[in-house]
Amino acid sequence: MAQYKNIDDLGALLGKRVLIRADLNVPMKKDQDGKTIVTDDTRIRSVTPTIIYLMEKGAQVIVMSHFDRPKGKIVPEMSLEQLAQPLADAIKKAVIFINDCAGDAVTETLDAMEDDAVLLLENVRFHKGEESNDPDFAQALADNADYYINEAFSCSHRAHASTEGIAHLIPSAAGFSMEKELVALENALGNPKRPLCAVVGGAKVSSKLDVLTNLVEKVDHLIIGGGMANTFLAAQGINVGSSLCEHDLADTARAILTKAKTQNCTIHLPTDLVVAKEFKAQADNRVVGLNDVARDEMILDVGPETVVKLTEMLDDCKTLIWNGPMGAFEIAPFDRATVTLAQAAGKLTKAGTLISVAGGGDTVAALNHAGVSDQFTHISTAGGAFLEWMEGKELPGVKVLEK
Ligand code: 3PG
Repeated sequence: MAQYKNIDDLGALLGKRVLIRADLNVPMKKDQDGKTIVTDDTRIRSVTPTIIYLMEKGAQVIVMSHFDRPKGKIVPEMSLEQLAQPLADAIKKAVIFINDCAGDAVTETLDAMEDDAVLLLENVRFHKGEESNDPDFAQALADNADYYINEAFSCSHRAHASTEGIAHLIPSAAGFSMEKELVALENALGNPKRPLCAVVGGAKVSSKLDVLTNLVEKVDHLIIGGGMANTFLAAQGINVGSSLCEHDLADTARAILTKAKTQNCTIHLPTDLVVAKEFKAQADNRVVGLNDVARDEMILDVGPETVVKLTEMLDDCKTLIWNGPMGAFEIAPFDRATVTLAQAAGKLTKAGTLISVAGGGDTVAALNHAGVSDQFTHISTAGGAFLEWMEGKELPGVKVLEK
């Protein structure tokens, strides 16, 4: 099991400048007064304990992040300035914003700053050198710090200057939330208690091909739900009516089913289905067997019989990894399978018999909807990084923190 450098490995913190890579790429919207507000501050809150700890130890804290995808240009709407107040609210300390992330202006601001404030740098992606992992840009970032801490697991699939390059230049470590995330992921897939079950749902097989291919080698049970299950059913000759389905991936789906057999991985596909003629909330619907989907019907959820079988199977599992909903969970009543299975997983986790780890954009929304987010062992706020981890890829921003 890989060991990662943590804050204790950095040495004395008193009087040191510590540069934290956070992920302040948070969802925002305009309120009635036209003011931009953060709609989910989970990522801001996740970096708070590290900031407070460093300040209490007498370090001068600098926070950097990207926001959105400005592609090396200054895009005023993507300025990190709009995150200064939300960050200040989270840490309950003053946050000073500077409109660059490297260079003399940053040094001068740090020299003049009170101890009790945090410096927030401008969007690192305003510089071309960030995404190209330019060594000169990484050095310019490092020049203003004694130590580097990565708190942005959700950006660590990117080999960028602020996530990878800089870590080679000054003593570096995983922050508290990064450490927690790495331990949870290691327990889930690196060194799991078995039986290990994965739920992979969502619309398309094509977006999760590498995930499925990697998981069949590692898990004991693989539950396939959502629109992607339709592709697997159709590949076995089942009529899926007018459902979302990638018919051109039939061979790929069959190859995954064959590979699973050789790897002793049981794939669980629905054995009954909830179908409707319209994709809308409260649409007329019926529960049907696999061979009863009409030409003009869409499969919108896994059926109740399947859900009972899956929850019984889950009872015997020790570890669960979850990515993607089982059905069209945004529109009732097609959220039923997702909610029931998520609640079963939450209950087993609370009872101490299951380690449950979930991640990916839609997944977090689905588990919030099911009201079980606080019952899971760990929910990752990472989207792309979580998927790449499920694909078994090495994340450059994590790799560089290995001891
Ligand atoms: C995310 O929101 O998943 C991270 O902030 C990474 O953003 P990116 O996909 O633009 O690199």
